[in-house]
Amino acid sequence: MEIHKYEKAWLVGALVLIVFFIATVTYVSAITGVSMVDDSGGTIDPDNVTDDDRFSDPRVEQVGEGEYEAYVVAQQFIFRPGTNRPIEVPEDSTVTFYVTSLDVTHGFQIVGTNVNTMVIPGQVSELTVEFDEPGEHGIICNEYCGSGHQDMAGNIVVHSEEDWQEMQGG
Ligand code: CUA
Repeated sequence: MEIHKYEKAWLVGALVLIVFFIATVTYVSAITGVSMVDDSGGTIDPDNVTDDDRFSDPRVEQVGEGEYEAYVVAQQFIFRPGTNRPIEVPEDSTVTFYVTSLDVTHGFQIVGTNVNTMVIPGQVSELTVEFDEPGEHGIICNEYCGSGHQDMAGNIVVHSEEDWQEMQGG
């Protein structure tokens, strides 16, 4: 069978477009941090989340100059930390969040940032945010997760350098 010259050109053109679209989506999601299903932090046994030392004691940890890691467990209907006590960091900090779920799929959106991901049992979502200004950011669950879904929320407090020093007792 002979493929017509123009038909061939269209086929090639269509393929180029498809590759271009995929590349665009990949690129945009890479630079904006938007992702659909996020297992960037690896996988985890959903039945034994608390056996993992990152999540046995969910917390915020300083890992470098102005660098923090936050280990957050989402469960019906709280974020730990986040809901009962806020996640606290100083201004001008870079915070990498590792979020996983104890039960069902939740959402993890930090208002005023580009962090917005699904939290799926068995997976760890990894997201990095820079907090340049003191202030507060709400955390909301944007995936329906049961009867308490609409009340599932938390808070991040970004302290001024001065307040932070005071809190550390310096
Ligand atoms: Cu958790 Cu909705």
